[in-house]
Amino acid sequence: MAGLKKLIAGNWKMNMLHTDGAALARDIVDGADKVGCDLLLCPPSTLVSWIAETASGSPVLVGAQDCHEAESGAFTGDISAAMVRDAGASYVILGHSERRHGLGETDSRVRTKVTAAHSAGLVAIVCIGETEAQRDAGETLDVLSAQLDGSLPTDGDGDAINGANTVIAYEPVWAIGTGRTPTLEEVAQAHAHIRAHLEHLLGEAASDIRILYGGSMKPENAGDLLMIANVDGGLIGGASLSADSFLAIAGAATA
Ligand code: 13P
Repeated sequence: MAGLKKLIAGNWKMNMLHTDGAALARDIVDGADKVGCDLLLCPPSTLVSWIAETASGSPVLVGAQDCHEAESGAFTGDISAAMVRDAGASYVILGHSERRHGLGETDSRVRTKVTAAHSAGLVAIVCIGETEAQRDAGETLDVLSAQLDGSLPTDGDGDAINGANTVIAYEPVWAIGTGRTPTLEEVAQAHAHIRAHLEHLLGEAASDIRILYGGSMKPENAGDLLMIANVDGGLIGGASLSADSFLAIAGAATA
């Protein structure tokens, strides 16, 4: 299979105020023409429209970190997929482990959000990944299958899942923000399993869906991780908060 164009996505999480965020985005926009992969910035929702304006006219894409599944209504503090789109974003991260484990978000909730994102014309980045206890118990691949089964609307209640509207991010929970990563063999095994399971669910459409690795990716390990078959990019937390390290990872994706 020919490799898919890589996507390097920065998840800024709950970091950055207006001035720092704009400077970071400008530096990344300035460096974007030197890399051959797609670049995506996912700032906190307060900055989405500002960063979208900063990136406008450049190849840098902008996304949000979550959205609500309802179109509108009494959901204090939430934002809808249409609001994300209206703010200038074209992507949204859904089911991040910090929402699954910190806020009790379930596969079925993630699934309704994916449908909402697709209805608003957003590309959904659906995050999956095992906890350390699940890995230690040898359950990793089963957990990934179950999360894909539960989180992707594949039974007609949403738009067809394909590479134009969906990205999968494999983020082992224990590797996020810890400086620890699975071995290259473990990453290869997980990504091959995800590809095979997507094929089982979606048939041919599976081959165009990018599968990102996330969890302590940094310039020092990005080259090795991004060379693995079925690793079609990265979802970067800490190392996305500096233009130098984010662009260095993008450079590794291009090499
Ligand atoms: P770190 O790169 O900080 O480990 O975070 C990964 C992540 O959660 C991206 O969504």
